[in-house]
Amino acid sequence: MTEHMPDDLDPTGHDLRELTDELRAGHRVVRNVRGEWVLLGHAEVVQAAVDPARFSSGVSAHLQVPNGLDGALHTEAREVLDRYLTPEALAPFEPAFRRIARDLVASLRSGAEVEAVGDLGAVFAVRAQSAWLGWPASLEQRLLDWVVANHAATRSGERPRMAAVAEDFDAIIREVLEPRRERPTDDVTSVLMADGWQGRPFSDEELVSILRNWTGGDLGSIALCVGVIAWHLALDRELTARLRSGVSDAELDAVIDEILRVDDPFTSNRRRTTCPVKVAGVEIPEGEVVKLHWTSANRDETRFGPVFDPAAHAAHNLVYGIGPHVCPGRGLATMELRVFVQEFLAGTSDFVLGADAEREVHPVGGFRRVPIVVTGRA
Ligand code: HEM
Repeated sequence: MTEHMPDDLDPTGHDLRELTDELRAGHRVVRNVRGEWVLLGHAEVVQAAVDPARFSSGVSAHLQVPNGLDGALHTEAREVLDRYLTPEALAPFEPAFRRIARDLVASLRSGAEVEAVGDLGAVFAVRAQSAWLGWPASLEQRLLDWVVANHAATRSGERPRMAAVAEDFDAIIREVLEPRRERPTDDVTSVLMADGWQGRPFSDEELVSILRNWTGGDLGSIALCVGVIAWHLALDRELTARLRSGVSDAELDAVIDEILRVDDPFTSNRRRTTCPVKVAGVEIPEGEVVKLHWTSANRDETRFGPVFDPAAHAAHNLVYGIGPHVCPGRGLATMELRVFVQEFLAGTSDFVLGADAEREVHPVGGFRRVPIVVTGRA
């Protein structure tokens, strides 16, 4: 059974997780006010994600490499682009990420409030992504301003505003590309500019799209993840004490993934049906937009137990998606978040939540603000 439901909330701060928990109690699939079919259950989201023939990623009118592609073209794009994100390709950047996190934590004053999403997460994400891609420090403030503007535009749901923000980001990318045409460097951006597919170099439009996917959405995602992690660690003192006592990288990664499963700030992606489909008994016609609600699916009580359990829940965790479009940046995001948490815990001996943490509003997940106060320096 389906019904219309508002999944676009007004900015009074409704917790998206509570809303989808309530909806999921009665429905696996609902239709929102935009007419999109929202898949809330784990099995339903997986069904769509692993079936690109029936659930196409060609949803946007804009070129999106690789996320808007299907079939052989998508496979070829992933083969070329995934090479930039292998453990071997990323390992050389770990020391730089660590230095960035350490310097940021060293700048915190004991007893002073700092806002984990904007002042820590976004700054760390912009610096780490710039170090990876070889982008100049002079772009930092513009990128930070862009993360804020992008969240505000997404939150507003106003298409022209979202388009304007996307254009601003494309302009930044074009400025990065321009000087490298004359004088290529040895950074990842220059290497990508010399790369190509389909037997030809990437076009400008394709380069902008690839770099937008590598940075645009993900600067914001990493920032939101840092906020969610800070919130959970501040409240779960036992878990934080265990992490401080020293755990392996693999164990820390599993804890972070489980925190993000319970409170997934990367809320959803869209598909378009290529034929009539049936999901949880609901008939969805051809040509309809379907929303894969990762945040809801990751909390589906028919799939996950009620207790925080990294080991038991890892296999079905959908924070980084599943199927052919599964996140190619998972290794990079995991490394960045691990390094950040390790350096934050190493550089502090205690921290607490400050006043007035504020949740984000759908369709942005996580928190808008997570003020924390470092009460002890290591
Ligand atoms: C914590 C941070 C991140 C989260 C939670 C996240 C999550 C996801 C998810 C759920 C998808 C699947 C989308 C779909 O099925 O339509 C995805 C796709 C993607 N992600 Fe990430 N991601 C993160 C960070 C990154 C980073 C750092 C990069 C790159 C440097 C990246 C690049 C991409 C790209 C290019 C795709 C599209 C893949 C395709 O369509 O084949 N992501 N991400």
